[in-house]
Amino acid sequence: MLNTDNEYKRIESSTDACSIIKALIDASGDHVSGSLLAESLGISRPAIHGKLEKLRDQGFTIEAIRNRGYRISKLPEVLHPSLLRHELDQLGCELPVLYYPVIDSTNNEAERQLTHGRKGPFAVTSSCQTKGRGRLGRTWQSGSADNLYQSVLFEPNIPAQQLQHFTLWAGIHICRALKALTPKAPLKIKWPNDLHCEGRKFAGMLTEAKMDADGIRSIVFGVGINVNSNPTQFPAEIRTLATSLYAIHGEELPLNTVAAVTLKAITAAYDACIQGTSEESLPEAWAPLNALEGKSVTALRGNTEITGIAGGIDVTGALLIETPNGVEAIRAGDVTLKKNIPNS
Ligand code: BTN
Repeated sequence: MLNTDNEYKRIESSTDACSIIKALIDASGDHVSGSLLAESLGISRPAIHGKLEKLRDQGFTIEAIRNRGYRISKLPEVLHPSLLRHELDQLGCELPVLYYPVIDSTNNEAERQLTHGRKGPFAVTSSCQTKGRGRLGRTWQSGSADNLYQSVLFEPNIPAQQLQHFTLWAGIHICRALKALTPKAPLKIKWPNDLHCEGRKFAGMLTEAKMDADGIRSIVFGVGINVNSNPTQFPAEIRTLATSLYAIHGEELPLNTVAAVTLKAITAAYDACIQGTSEESLPEAWAPLNALEGKSVTALRGNTEITGIAGGIDVTGALLIETPNGVEAIRAGDVTLKKNIPNS
């Protein structure tokens, strides 16, 4: 096992727990006999009993009926490494995941793991970050276990140009995956790295790359998603600017499912960039998800303010702003929505 020499405790997923979870979930509400579970795992019935007790302690509601067996009636509301592994396996996503109940920052831990010899790709996920980082040196509020804090590290070893649009594509893939879980909600992307719904931010992305003369050595893509937190509990300074999928959707979402579809979306975006196989152009894929289209915005280029009406993005990923002097392409930085429309 890799020792990253830090104080954070990692909880591993367990193959036996994954198999039990799979058998019970696959039974779709029917009972599964203890002897069948024992036989398929190659362990004794008392051992199965012990493992079921442990799952109950971890938030699963598992009913037992004499002569019929076991049935899952409720899944844990918090991140659970074996359930997450099961969900990823169901999606055909083999990405290894390291789960920490508490970490400073999942981006930091991904870097530390790489430094200590772990090979990418792998994900780091946590229920709480003590030093969650946002873009442009900001802090990312990370105290609630109802939300997701995840990073995926890749080792591309390819020229930087090939991955220059990775973050935008990852945003597109994540937004689409979350829309599939909340079909009625108008989830959008606010260029370049925020996910918004009706003017409020519910997720942010932070990409950090290490390069040398030969290209990108490693890239860490981090995403924080407000999933089941209640915006009325948010710190006062972000309460009017931020939201959560729970507030948007009107009911809680299964956290492990949201984690799994997000990780799968990130790897799909990465694979598409590496293989260059995407049949859609970036501007076309962006257009239906563009939170800024037609909005009055201000962007900063150096110290110069560019104000106008936002359009789409071009093939380089730059945001196009129509100004009185013509169309300006904004390549980096942040955009502020004008006229009392909140953003962050
Ligand atoms: C932003 O909107 O400014 C980007 C926020 C990125 C937050 C995520 S949470 C997981 C990963 N770990 C971090 O410390 N930051 C990113």
